[in-house]
Amino acid sequence: KNIAIIFGGKSGEHEVSLSSASSIYNHIDKEKYNVYTIGITKEGNWLYYEGSCENIKNGKWVELANKDAKINLIPTQGEKIGISLSNGVFHEIDIIFPVLHGPYGEDGSIQGLFEISNIPYVGCGVLSSSVGMDKIICKKIFKEMGLSQVKFEYVTRYEFVKNVQDSINNIERNINYPMFVKPANLGSSVGISKAKNKDELILAINEALRYDYRVIIEEGINAREIEVSVLGNEDVSASIVGEIIPAKEFYDYEAKYINASSKLLIPAPIDDDIIKKVQDMAIKAFKGIDGCGLARVDFFIDKDTTEIYINEINTMPGFTNISMYPKLWEASGIEYKDLIDKLITLAVE
Ligand code: DAL
Ligand code: MG
Repeated sequence: KNIAIIFGGKSGEHEVSLSSASSIYNHIDKEKYNVYTIGITKEGNWLYYEGSCENIKNGKWVELANKDAKINLIPTQGEKIGISLSNGVFHEIDIIFPVLHGPYGEDGSIQGLFEISNIPYVGCGVLSSSVGMDKIICKKIFKEMGLSQVKFEYVTRYEFVKNVQDSINNIERNINYPMFVKPANLGSSVGISKAKNKDELILAINEALRYDYRVIIEEGINAREIEVSVLGNEDVSASIVGEIIPAKEFYDYEAKYINASSKLLIPAPIDDDIIKKVQDMAIKAFKGIDGCGLARVDFFIDKDTTEIYINEINTMPGFTNISMYPKLWEASGIEYKDLIDKLITLAVE
């Protein structure tokens, strides 16, 4: 089988994707699969790149890419899907592994392109990707499913700018400080801040509005951060549960990727009945958004009451070598290499 890994992309999580993709490229079974790597620049230019995973990770692939190669993802007049090189060689592509995080890559956009072109691809489809990416819509669906969540409110740029005071009053009426303010569509904590009072709330909303025109505001609780990986299409399994001990006040972009001193506890030291509940909620959430393939589902456990709250679902979770998704499966008995193999198998099931 010929697999194309697509990485990079026009999102705020471009660099995270480079790390995830180089790690997947490193671990994929190259005896079983012919692997081709296609990068998307931050500007949205697609380039065929043949070379080392170090250069994917450090961004040098843009310079080193084969700029004459043509990537054909739309089957025009019966042409095959694949990469044509200027010397006449054609690499047909059977399956795509979109290792893209955030807008355009994890939100159903690119999945729509693959659907239209009849190309099998790893991971969630159009609907589950877009619902999973949008924190506002996703929370509404989780609410409808009866999954408990922290209190939240949301505001659009238009409403906020029109009447800042009204927006703030509405938020303060419904949720208590501290609050977490997040762009509706992004991951890796980009654009997220914590607000402890009204002034900080206004600043935080303005910051989040730099990334999206819709912003979600959540009540911050004194909680442990728990994550679980799910895998499967119809028959979905949940991994061992992991816990994050953030190096900073919360698990922000820097604590996630730059300052590696945040700790992952695998398995999380929590009671079996809570583990079971978290796993069941994760599978329920995944099925509830019509997920397939994979996702990582994130939870909070209130330190005082042990109440479990679902936080979010990530349909293309981080795959860097320090990431929770592959580590949780490793701890559950599935090696990284076999995990990739399983994901590819699920794509063509
Ligand atoms: N959005 C990042 C990649 C994650 O959820 O792991
Ligand atoms: Mg996320």
